[in-house]
Parts: sequence; structure tokens; C-alpha cells
Amino acid sequence: MTISRTQVVIVGAGPSGLLLGQLLHRAGIANVIVEQRSGDYVLSRIRAGIIEQICQDLLIEAGVGERMLAEGLVHKGIELCFAGQRHHIDLHGLTGGKTVMVYGQTEITRDLMDARASAGLRTVYEADKVAIHDYDTSTPSLSYHQHGKVYTVKADFIAGCDGFHGVCRASVPAAAIQNFERVYPFGWLGILADVPPVSDELIYSNHPRGFALCSMRSKTRVRHYVQCSLDDKLEDWSDDRFWSELKSRLDPQAAARLHTGPSIEKSIAPLRSFVAEPMRFGNLFLAGDAAHIVPPTGAKGLNLAASDVRYLSRAFIENYTEKSYAGLADYSRKALRRIWKAERFSWYMTSLLHRFPLGPGDTGNVGAKMQQAELDYLVNSKAAMTSLAENYVGLPFEE
Ligand code: APR
Ligand code: PHB
Repeated sequence: MTISRTQVVIVGAGPSGLLLGQLLHRAGIANVIVEQRSGDYVLSRIRAGIIEQICQDLLIEAGVGERMLAEGLVHKGIELCFAGQRHHIDLHGLTGGKTVMVYGQTEITRDLMDARASAGLRTVYEADKVAIHDYDTSTPSLSYHQHGKVYTVKADFIAGCDGFHGVCRASVPAAAIQNFERVYPFGWLGILADVPPVSDELIYSNHPRGFALCSMRSKTRVRHYVQCSLDDKLEDWSDDRFWSELKSRLDPQAAARLHTGPSIEKSIAPLRSFVAEPMRFGNLFLAGDAAHIVPPTGAKGLNLAASDVRYLSRAFIENYTEKSYAGLADYSRKALRRIWKAERFSWYMTSLLHRFPLGPGDTGNVGAKMQQAELDYLVNSKAAMTSLAENYVGLPFEE
């Protein structure tokens, strides 16, 4: 067995783990990342691409903002489409000048990986049988297998950044953790294609045939989604069927401007709201998808991961520089306060925009009527639009 030592051992090299590692490194805190997959596999996952200002600031602070600032697209608004018309939500004007950035999560991951490699920091990819030990003592450790050998990393702390299916949350006894979960009765079918966007802004569409979203990665690459059934298989969805379904869910002008082309990626994702409480178990700290999932409608997944990492990195830095555990002890409470607000917003956007099956006791589609009333109210009320806008651009942090 080979034994090594570090200050913080990080499980998972997704955006949470990589960003935490980078912020700790810049503060002089030693860390090792242990990831079960290969770097190429991590980079092959297509995820969302809307970055809140606060998340942009954190990436800049971590020294990985350069490419995002050069290549990302600043968005000052979004469009809501319903009843055959699009309505502009002026995020910038309604929030005193805040904006969001369109820049793919894959690109952020790549930037973080490159920064980690050029700093010469240790990342173990393709680690098997990752296990965590003694996380509720002052001598936690992590073990893994690789090429027939067993390795142990001893650390002061373990950061569980290993996503929804990771080992960290699963290692905590059921009695110590409470899960809150809702699985929505539909999925999102997404495609990536090299065609110009329909509009300068993202279009979120509520339509009797189901939700649709026209997003983008650049001025030449789009990411589009349509609400689909959870029983649908990818084979059911030819590119032609996708494009014609998307077209049918847009207003006539947007439909006329829809550029079609071959998909370069196509996937179906379920929608879920999930939170595990608490997020600290002794010297084990969960961050990102390991502790919570949002349905993608509010574009909050990556932003929430960054928000956890911001709180957690500051708490680790306080621990090492001021010899104070207070920030770490308060991490879970602080993080969850912001998480539940983003969970609420993501649930709200999901509820507002999707077709739901009729509920028990419904005569006619009450849900669809409520959505129409809400949308009509929203686009005619500055107060309601401001509420949507301030949540969309990201709520402030508790310092
Ligand atoms: N051991 C080591 N690594 C693991 C293990 C394990 N047992 N289980 C999972 N992992 C790795 C996964 O392979 C993955 O690379 O942990 C990483 C977790 O990354 P993400 O799932 O991307 O989660 P996170 O870094 O928190 O990023 C959150 O990604 O899923 C989106 O919507 C989400 O945008 C949000 C962001
Ligand atoms: C995306 O570009 O993938 C995207 C954008 C906005 C969302 C969800 C996903 O709300």
C-alpha cells in the first residue's frame, strides 16, 4: 500500500472539485483530487452553459477567467415565449446592471483542468474502488485502487465533490442524513448543433405540446431542448423529428428563423429537485451535485456548485490562516440557505413552463390555465419580472 498526505483530499474532478482545488491551491493549501473516470470522459459530458456574475467572479479569482471573458457571450436578457408571442425580460435593466455569461460548462472544466495541470497539482484519474474512511475523526483518509495497487491519501479534510452518484454522500449512515427529492414526470431531450442561434437571447417557451428552450454555446453553435416523455428513447428522436417538434413549440417569427442541421450530440435527461441535509459530517464536506440537484430550467446547477465552493474554500482558508473552525462549522447552514432559494427558483421555472399531467381532481387542464395567468401577470408586472430577473442572475451571498 502506498500512503501519501495532503491537507484537503477532493473526491471528483467535475467543476466543483476542480474549482475548489484551484482556489485552495491559490491560497497555499495542498490538495489532491481523486476521480474515478478519465479526464476525456469528464470533458465529454455536455452540461449547461449559463454563468452567473458571482460564478464568473469566482472563476476570475481562481485565475481561470481569461478564455471565458474573451469567448463568452454576455446576455442582458432572456425571452419568454407563450401564446404565440415572445416577451423580453430585461435582466440588466431590472437588476441594476447585472448580466449572465453564456459559456459552456465543458469549457470551464477544460480551463480548470489546464490550470491544474500547469500548476503541477496532483489529480488521480481512473481511480477504482474509491472509499473514504474516518471522516468523523481528526484523521480522515481516502483509499483507491489503480493498476492492481492500493493507495491511501491521508488528509485533514475530505471534500465530497463527486456528484449525485458519488461515494461520499453514500458513505454517511442513513440516520445522519435527510433527503428531499422530487422527480418530475418528464425529461429534456437536448441537442447540440453547429448552426446560428434563433435569437440573440435564450428563448424559454411554454407551449401546449410541451416546454422548449433555445440556448447556445456560441454564435455558431446552439443547444436546444424539448420536453419529452420519460419513456422516450433516443432512437425515437431523429434529428428531423427534433427540429420539427422544436419549431412547432416556438412563435411564428422564431420558427421562421430556426436554422436546422445535423446534431453533434443528443441526450435525454430526467428532471429532479434534490437536497441532502446537512452538508457537513465531521470533517467531510459535500459540495455541488453530491449534495443537491436542480431541474435545469433555471440554469442553476453549475452556479450552485460554484456557490458551495465559494463558501467552502473561504472556510478552509479561514481554518488554515486564522486557526478557526467557525466557517467550516457554519458551512452547511450557509450553503443550504442559498441552495434552497435556487431550488425554489428552479422548481418555479419548471412549474411555470412545462406541460404536467392532469392532477387528481382536475377537471380540464387547471395547471395550464394557471401558467397562462402567471405568464400574463409576469410580463405585465415590473415587480414580478424583477423577482424573476434577480433570481436568474443569481442571489447575493451571505458573507
Ligand atoms: N470516486 C471518484 N470520483 C467520483 C466518484 C467516486 N466514487 N463518483 C463520482 N465521481 C466523479 C464523477 O465521475 C464526476 O467527474 O465526480 C465528478 C462529479 O462531477 P459532476 O457530476 O459534474 O458534479 P459537480 O462537480 O458538483 O458539478 C456540478 O455539473 O452535473 C452538473 O448540473 C450540474 O452543472 C452542475 C455541475
Ligand atoms: C443550456 O445552454 O444548456 C441551458 C441554458 C439554460 C438553461 C438550461 C440549459 O436554463
